[in-house]
Amino acid sequence: MAAERDNADAPDLIAYEQRDLLRFITCGSVDDGKSTLLGRLLYDADLLNDDERAVLEAERRRAGRAHDEPDFSLLLDGLDEERQQGITIDVAYRFFTTPTRKFIVADCPGHPQYTRNMATGASTAQVALMLVDARKGVLTQTRRHSYICALLGIRQVLLAVNKMDLVDCDAAVFERIERECRELAAAVGIEQATAIPLSALRGDNVVKRSPRMAWYQGPTLLEWLTTVQPLPAHAEPALRLPVQWVSRADGFRGFAGTVAAGSVAPGDEVVVLPSGVHSRIERVLDGAGDIERAGRGDAVTVTTRDEIDISRGDVLAAASSPPEVADQFAVHLLWMGDKPLLPGRPYTLQRAGSRALAQVTAIKHRVDVDTQEHMAATRLEVNEVGYANLSLDQPIAFEPYARSHVLGGFLLIDRQSNATVACGTIDFALRRASNIHWQALDVDRAARAAAKQQRPRCVWFTGLSGAGKSTIANALERQLHARGMHTYLLDGDNVRHGLNRDLGFTPEDRVENIRRVAEVARLMTDAGLIVLVSFISPYRSERRMARELFGEGDFVEVFVDAPLELCEQRDPKGLYAKARAGELSNFTGIDSPYEPPLEPELHLEVNGEPVDALARRIAQWIDDQ
Ligand code: ADX
Repeated sequence: MAAERDNADAPDLIAYEQRDLLRFITCGSVDDGKSTLLGRLLYDADLLNDDERAVLEAERRRAGRAHDEPDFSLLLDGLDEERQQGITIDVAYRFFTTPTRKFIVADCPGHPQYTRNMATGASTAQVALMLVDARKGVLTQTRRHSYICALLGIRQVLLAVNKMDLVDCDAAVFERIERECRELAAAVGIEQATAIPLSALRGDNVVKRSPRMAWYQGPTLLEWLTTVQPLPAHAEPALRLPVQWVSRADGFRGFAGTVAAGSVAPGDEVVVLPSGVHSRIERVLDGAGDIERAGRGDAVTVTTRDEIDISRGDVLAAASSPPEVADQFAVHLLWMGDKPLLPGRPYTLQRAGSRALAQVTAIKHRVDVDTQEHMAATRLEVNEVGYANLSLDQPIAFEPYARSHVLGGFLLIDRQSNATVACGTIDFALRRASNIHWQALDVDRAARAAAKQQRPRCVWFTGLSGAGKSTIANALERQLHARGMHTYLLDGDNVRHGLNRDLGFTPEDRVENIRRVAEVARLMTDAGLIVLVSFISPYRSERRMARELFGEGDFVEVFVDAPLELCEQRDPKGLYAKARAGELSNFTGIDSPYEPPLEPELHLEVNGEPVDALARRIAQWIDDQ
């Protein structure tokens, strides 16, 4: 201690360590003067580094404007250049420190992928700094950004009403915008909205109080940033520790992750979810070794007293107040995929170390972010926001997003391209996973198959309309039937007259068409049948979904490969002619895509080989397995 007292720097050092951290996001369009405002803030508060100062001075000299205001937008131009060159910088983070606080600001470019950028920046921000041009007031963009901020859990917003100098620093203009902004904040559910009239260009009310707006008594931007108290989290005080990985070495089995809520100490009773197994914590370790307790935000490894099964993606929780476990949720989704969200299509859900397969079972509504109106929707396009029911292939322990961003926030990933296509927040569970059980039946699949003396399978024909799928499937069924086998042929045209009569040919309807017929085919193989499915099934994603319903080797994908020209020439139903004439839209091969299989079990090139011979090849292939 004595040494510390001798050291003149020590008090500052301690003060520095104790400085708290404020994470904020800036929103607004380019013209609102976002970079000028940030530049001005850092310049006036003397927070620029030497290099940045040099850039500003050099430009001032070069432009011969030594007495003018510096051009602050230069400070962020480097990023703009990269953006223009197409190098994706979704969000630029900037760090700065005042004597009392540390700041991390996420600068989110407004266009064109604003949803993705804002989602990235806003998910970790405590407050949002939203720019409004005093001449324009609340714009569509302001509404969108407010809505997305609120959705991602930002509860405090600062409205920087910029360019006040261009409206003669008129108090009435400010008051009108302030009122509009407050109404908007209340409409989208932002709890605290503060407005400051300022001019980034002139430096009014940014760091220095403006003599031109003596009517304004509130804080300057810097004062607000350094004094705003983030609203206390609604966080659950009990332990939530999602397991990110399991480390095994020389008899040691530890579970590593970052504490999302509560704290953990040796002796604590925990429950592992979703399995529900109980145990007690034995050790808690950080990078340096054993510790007595770890709290929220700490990265730790824990061990349990009992040898229990815990895997990546599981959640360790306080046994006294565990989170719910469910596999069906009502969720908010921000769609960012280039291709639309199609209900029924499987996506990979990623959340706090766990992965599951997820399907949107229903889009409840799309939100018009400009008006907050709920619109009917069958799909979501890029940058659209919606409310949907989501179904997972396995239960997960979760928390509503309002209570835990870690356990209630998730991403959806496209299974073909691996691109992140959505970010979402869990609102509530639609039902507990434990309420619906798989009914075990005494006569099972194996018993039914044995009675029929055959191996049930699904033979899935895919290809363009007119390629010959149904003709070949029909011939195959005849051959199998002649050998005493029990079969059923599900044909697109026929099924669309009954079970799927409500479906058309839009992408979302085709996804649902395949989902239903795949489920029916699975029930039929369960019944012991060899099922032949003959559907165009144009998308890889849904054929993969169908495949995954069956056991290894029980799904035989047959690609009936006839060139479009040949199909069009044959045109057995006259549909190609109609599609070419514009009388039929969404026709596969014409104005709707066909994605050929990459690795079908059988690739039949249609080139004059008799139908019966093609069918025999399939039967032979099946016999050989
Ligand atoms: S799928 O794409 O959803 O798998 P499905 O196999 O059920 O299609 O139905 C395809 C059949 O519907 C075609 O063989 C054709 O007879 C008929 N049809 C009518 N309109 C279209 C269309 N727009 N695109 C493709 N097929 C169509």
